Amino acid sequence: MDALIAAVARSVTGEPALTTMLADVARLLTDALGADGCLAFLAGDGGDLVLAASHPWAPATGPPLRVPEGSGIAGRAAAEGVPVYCAADRPRHPGHRDVLGLGPGQAVSRLCVPARVAGGGSCAVLAVHSRRRREFSAAEVEAAQRVADLAGLRVRAATALAAMRDHQEEWDAVVAGAVAAQEAERRRVAADLHDGLTQAIASLTFHLSAADVALGDGDVGYVAEQVAAARSLADLALGETRSAITGLHSPVLDGQGLAAGLAAMARAVPGLRVEVEAADFPVPHHVGTSLFRIAQEAVQNVVKHAGAGRAVIRLAKHGHMVMLSVTDDGCGFDAPGRASSYGLRGMAERVHLLGGRLRIGSHPGRGTTVEVTVPTAL
Ligand SMILES: Nc1ncnc2c1ncn2[C@@H]1O[C@H](COP(=O)(O)OP(=O)(O)OP(=O)(O)O)[C@@H](O)[C@H]1O
Ligand SMILES: [Mg+2]
Repeated sequence: MDALIAAVARSVTGEPALTTMLADVARLLTDALGADGCLAFLAGDGGDLVLAASHPWAPATGPPLRVPEGSGIAGRAAAEGVPVYCAADRPRHPGHRDVLGLGPGQAVSRLCVPARVAGGGSCAVLAVHSRRRREFSAAEVEAAQRVADLAGLRVRAATALAAMRDHQEEWDAVVAGAVAAQEAERRRVAADLHDGLTQAIASLTFHLSAADVALGDGDVGYVAEQVAAARSLADLALGETRSAITGLHSPVLDGQGLAAGLAAMARAVPGLRVEVEAADFPVPHHVGTSLFRIAQEAVQNVVKHAGAGRAVIRLAKHGHMVMLSVTDDGCGFDAPGRASSYGLRGMAERVHLLGGRLRIGSHPGRGTTVEVTVPTAL
């Protein structure tokens, strides 16, 4: 029986999918006990047992076989958490008789062992059957029980993993929604700015018309005045448009990818050398957009506050963690200067939404590092 336990332990800790593992265990148990076959049931939500695998393999017809809670010897084993033996079992469910290969009136000897869960209850049942009427020795029952408990560990791990994935998916949807809302807001602001500019352009048109009229009157001095006013308005409108668009536009949203987006942003920073060391790897859209915004704010802070000669943006991935940092060699700071500022707070909010960590390392005279670590499913 030690060889059986070792083989089951290997199967339970191996790579295969849950049902493949259960079919494997059903085969090992059948062979070790010299039986004819074994059915592996999983405990469903309502306490019913649902057939998940069998040996020998029986092709499924119709919906999967369900044993109602507590019914039959498999149900009893699950409910009571103890091995249950029956010398001549005749399951009532025709589908159940089918999988066991039973003709009308035929019976089988069955041993059902529950996969017990710490704290009570069972997560699965292994049901061994033999067409030859037989008993199972105490050693065989004990070995079968150990096999079921081992398989149960894997069943529990798979359930926990599935619950974790569901949770992660829900969380991802919430985060994606929040980031999309932020982006929509930024687009709205961009549109507002754009509308504001139409005011400047309207006055510009007014000055040009006035110049046109004055031209007919031959008043060259007045024409020159109006053209100069128009020109400075045009310069103003152009400058405002540029800075508004550079600040609000996200290249990540345009499908450039995060690394390229960071490089483009770094090139556009006025009066500061910004180096980028960014690996190119896929990140979920909302994660990329958030990281881009964080880098953008950190770089803007370097420009506005640090008086630095140089800044470096680094982007890397280690396993399922993405790391972004922005370092400068500027004046550094002790505690943030203005209570009304949004930059650092916004960064912290974004990182929190992504379930990540934000670390700001700064000392007066020794520069600043903003470092973000966020998990990603990709
Ligand atoms: N790289 C940096 N070097 C030096 N000081 C910095 C740096 N980053 C932030 N600070 C300090 O921290 C303060 C808070 O930064 P934060 O980004 O929250 O606000 P802000 O840049 O002043 O305003 P806002 O971002 O709302 O336009 C800054 O005012 C500045 O004193
Ligand atoms: Mg700022």
